[in-house]
Amino acid sequence: ATSALPFKVADLSLATAGRHQIRLAENEMPGLMALREEFGPSQPLAGARIAGSLHMTVQTAVLIETLVALGARVRWASCNIFSTQDEAAAAVVVGPEGTVDAPAGVPVFAWKGETLEEYWWCTDRIFDWSAEAAADGAEWTGPNLILDDGGDATLLVHHGREFEAAGGVPEATDATSAEFRVVLDTLRASLERDASRWTRVAGDLLGVTEETTTGVHRLYELHAAGELLFPAINVNDSVTKSKFDNKYGIRHSLPDGLNRATDVLMGGKVAFVAGYGDVGKGAAEALRGQGARVIVSEIDPINALQAAMDGFEVKRLESVIGEIDILVTGTGNKDVVRVEHLLGLKHLAVVANVGHFDNEIDMAALESLPGAERVEIKPQVHEWRLPSGRSVLVLSEGRLMNLGNATGHPSFVMSNSFTNQVLAQLELYTRTDAYPTGVYVLPKHLDEKVARLHLDALGVELTELTPDQAAYIGVPVEGPYKVDHYRY
Ligand code: NAI
Repeated sequence: ATSALPFKVADLSLATAGRHQIRLAENEMPGLMALREEFGPSQPLAGARIAGSLHMTVQTAVLIETLVALGARVRWASCNIFSTQDEAAAAVVVGPEGTVDAPAGVPVFAWKGETLEEYWWCTDRIFDWSAEAAADGAEWTGPNLILDDGGDATLLVHHGREFEAAGGVPEATDATSAEFRVVLDTLRASLERDASRWTRVAGDLLGVTEETTTGVHRLYELHAAGELLFPAINVNDSVTKSKFDNKYGIRHSLPDGLNRATDVLMGGKVAFVAGYGDVGKGAAEALRGQGARVIVSEIDPINALQAAMDGFEVKRLESVIGEIDILVTGTGNKDVVRVEHLLGLKHLAVVANVGHFDNEIDMAALESLPGAERVEIKPQVHEWRLPSGRSVLVLSEGRLMNLGNATGHPSFVMSNSFTNQVLAQLELYTRTDAYPTGVYVLPKHLDEKVARLHLDALGVELTELTPDQAAYIGVPVEGPYKVDHYRY
């Protein structure tokens, strides 16, 4: 039988391999599995139509199937051109009950190694629910919730609606980035097909839950400018997200990516980490754990002092550029590594970005540097021969290398992040009135709940307050235990 399920993935025959990995991941994701048990019977997400844009990995497969177990319908794209695990994408399309010939899972539009045009086409696809609407005989044509990572899905809706209101898509100028040109082209084609689509989509959206620092930053900016179209929950700033995923996740997946990409020994080498936020802290600790001599850079005096007190040298990149063997960026800022830095590096130094976008390393300038030549060592590993006569090794073309060269963060830490995501989707869908347009973090009792759901698996014995002790420190016995501004 042929199926009407729309999707585009690399190879559906990878589904069995993906299903095995998903099964193992479920055992490492106790938070998500507990939510399935708690909310499966009552189906609180029945009627929810979720457009997801987040790295299409094995862990994300467990997230998607949890949303479905709670009653939601879902469409999915990846939020990075290199981060999809093709076997996970295939397994999600086939679904636990379907077969390769009759897929019965979720429409996924993602494969490893998309072009930018394909990437934005996939993002556009998660907003087109006409197949589902036709099956339902429904009025709506799009989703009612977004689950975003980095804000690209949210950006598409905002620009789509803005250009519809303006009566057309503006022409690119010399200042328009290569990627934004693709966004403009994608929206131009979309507006030609349907000139009020994004206005309808925006009108139906109850909100977005945003996964990462970079996406959250965009949301606060939109809100400050009075342009945010719907409520947003900042999942990143749940303590059980940023203080775990960003830090302990990177501590695992950065060395994983370096090993798979280059297998270069880290011990004894000089590693440089730009940024000592949550991601930088995890990166610096991992590299030190491997015996590298780690130097950190910061623009914030508090983080710089923290790095120093943690025992790291803190220097400007320029001061130590000629000593560095492994250069890692995790700032969420742009132009942190520029061509002049690349030219100053040692021969075959490794350049690795774990911030969200590829502009942390000025790849555009490298690509247009006269005399520079790119040699592919293997996919996502490129030697750039520079006019200086030296080469540098750039991982994942300057994009997130822990996802491009490895498989991202491990399941257990992602269970914390994604349990926050599911709770945030539940908040927006079932307590809509509590969230007028604005940007929110989840209430602390839910943050504590996420942590609680992960203690048993690690054999953690939690000490219980006596009523007398609770009264003495002024908190309820059952929590929350800290004031909102406590920093952990
Ligand atoms: P954060 O805000 O905690 O840390 C970033 C740090 O970089 C800040 O302390 C800031 O002062 C510093 N910084 C900014 N510009 C700098 C510059 N020019 N030079 C040196 N330091 C500079 O943010 P967080 O949570 O650590 O995230 C950083 C980036 O990593 C974001 O883009 C985020 O989206 C991304 N991220 C990536 C993950 C991955 O799997 N690769 C996982 C989680 C977050």
